[in-house]
Amino acid sequence: CGIVGVLGNHQVSPILVEGLRRLEYRGYDSAGIATVNAGKLERRRALGKLVNLSDALVHEPLAGTSGIGHTRWATHGAANTANAHPHQRGRVAVVHNGIIENYRELRSRLDAHGITPETDTDTETVAMLCDWYLNQGLPPIDAAKATISDLEGAYALCFLFEGEDDLIVAARKGSPLAVGWGEGEMFVGSDALALAPMTSEITYLEEGDIAIVTRAGAAFLDDTQQPVTRTRKTVNLGATATDKAGHRHFMSKEIAEQPDVLANALKYYTTDREGRHLLETGVDFSQFDRIVMVACGTASLACFVSKYWFEQIARIPVEIDIASEFRYREPPLNDRTLTLFVSQSGETADTLAALRYCTGQAGKVVSIVNAMESSIARESDLALPILAGPEIGVASTKAFTCQLAVLASLSLQAARQRGLLDEAGDRELTDQLRRVPGQVTEALAIAPQVQAVSAQLARYEDVLFLGRGALYPLALEGALKLKEISYIHAEGYASGELKHGPIALIDEEMPVVVLTPHDAMFDKTVSNMQEVMARGGKIVMVSDARGLKDGGDGVWQMIEMPKIDGPFAAIAYAVPIQQLAYFTAVEKGTDVDQPRNLAKSVTVE
Ligand code: G6P
Repeated sequence: CGIVGVLGNHQVSPILVEGLRRLEYRGYDSAGIATVNAGKLERRRALGKLVNLSDALVHEPLAGTSGIGHTRWATHGAANTANAHPHQRGRVAVVHNGIIENYRELRSRLDAHGITPETDTDTETVAMLCDWYLNQGLPPIDAAKATISDLEGAYALCFLFEGEDDLIVAARKGSPLAVGWGEGEMFVGSDALALAPMTSEITYLEEGDIAIVTRAGAAFLDDTQQPVTRTRKTVNLGATATDKAGHRHFMSKEIAEQPDVLANALKYYTTDREGRHLLETGVDFSQFDRIVMVACGTASLACFVSKYWFEQIARIPVEIDIASEFRYREPPLNDRTLTLFVSQSGETADTLAALRYCTGQAGKVVSIVNAMESSIARESDLALPILAGPEIGVASTKAFTCQLAVLASLSLQAARQRGLLDEAGDRELTDQLRRVPGQVTEALAIAPQVQAVSAQLARYEDVLFLGRGALYPLALEGALKLKEISYIHAEGYASGELKHGPIALIDEEMPVVVLTPHDAMFDKTVSNMQEVMARGGKIVMVSDARGLKDGGDGVWQMIEMPKIDGPFAAIAYAVPIQQLAYFTAVEKGTDVDQPRNLAKSVTVE
């Protein structure tokens, strides 16, 4: 969910809606705003996308110069208007991101006073409780503080009060929140991106902080509710962050940006100050016996791809896990274990919890993030940026390839530190890595071929993706991307595993996308393709010219990639699978940037 709050000098509802627009990637089940209008608390809410709220505001405008807003990704309670935020009870309105774990207990406490809920949400309980404290005679700030003390769970919260045109109380525990400084105006938002049009002067709340915000400024309290000083910094996001730059979708813009952002990231990681190859990142891989990598979704598949590199090139064992499993398994760690957390947003709740599990147990906790101000970055011993720039499309594209670029660079650094690369080997592999942006540019140029295949794929209900080696996790990513945005059922498999089960599904109704550069594993993969075709299966073969010539006989569709030598082919092969998902979704007319039920930043367990 996304939160925004404004104490302004102008009518606030358009400013709130603009802030929410920039946060919509965090959820879009419903949206709402509340303002203090001539002392009175009023709100408007609408189901579905933000545009529904904007429409509602045309018919029923909401006046006032102070207000709060929210865009929701439903957890407790269905996505409907009654459950949409802000939640108001009596003299207080609340927006919330996270989960209040003890809301049932709080409800029964309130029930004893005859206060009953009107919605299914945990958030309403916060408003009920705060209103109860107000009714006990506590002034607004104290009522909010008392309420916050009673809460268990994870939250970012904003409170807005009836009769208080110059006050927002904000609190952060487990979900990010930032205060923005203007000239006689103040702002609150889930991230600096939301506040970018209003201000670039930001104070990030620390865990457990409360901010008392008025137009004159903000005062901060720490997790014991004692006054504390928090630094104010200037963040530079640029105005272009949420601009589609002429593209129809953010996803297509972000796919197209990959050569540039990859070149940036690789330049950063493969050149050090002395102009030698490879940046010294501050991780000494020779100190560790193994690496444990933890992430969710697409980021976890980036880890999986890199397992091949770390093990083959740097000869260091890598364990990969998804955060929601890792965190509860109580995996043993010691000081010779390096833990690596990969997250675009840096706020994914499961990944953050897994990181906290490792803190103090592992030798080192390193994160690879896009958002350097995020919780995951701040709580790790070392945070490494992927330098992808803001990613808005819910389906991750440029963040994924930048994660791969950073992980590939680290695998080379590891190999060098572990004495496995001589000068020539180092140079050779680093040069191969530096060729990636150019290969990605070439891969982008084959879009028309991919589009033609997508027009066919859109007619099917099931698709299989196959790959070997580092292309196996890429097959998983291909399937994930297709499911996410086109809603076509898709599965990824290791090519060699096909015969152990999924081959039973093969018929002409299930196209099989095979990712196979002409590499050492090529002949084996071609055999697996033959097994599919022998059973009437339709192959979409993604390979280079030589691969298509040697192995393309009888395939249904071909996509010709540039020739790529060396271990890092998986990075450029990400491009056709992204585009396959993209064009298929466009063909089907689905909502590419905001696919149903998903959110980009999942800050709940
Ligand atoms: C969500 C998104 C995915 C993303 C995953 C991890 O589920 O929809 O696209 O890969 O979270 O996000 P993170 O920000 O931690 O990389």
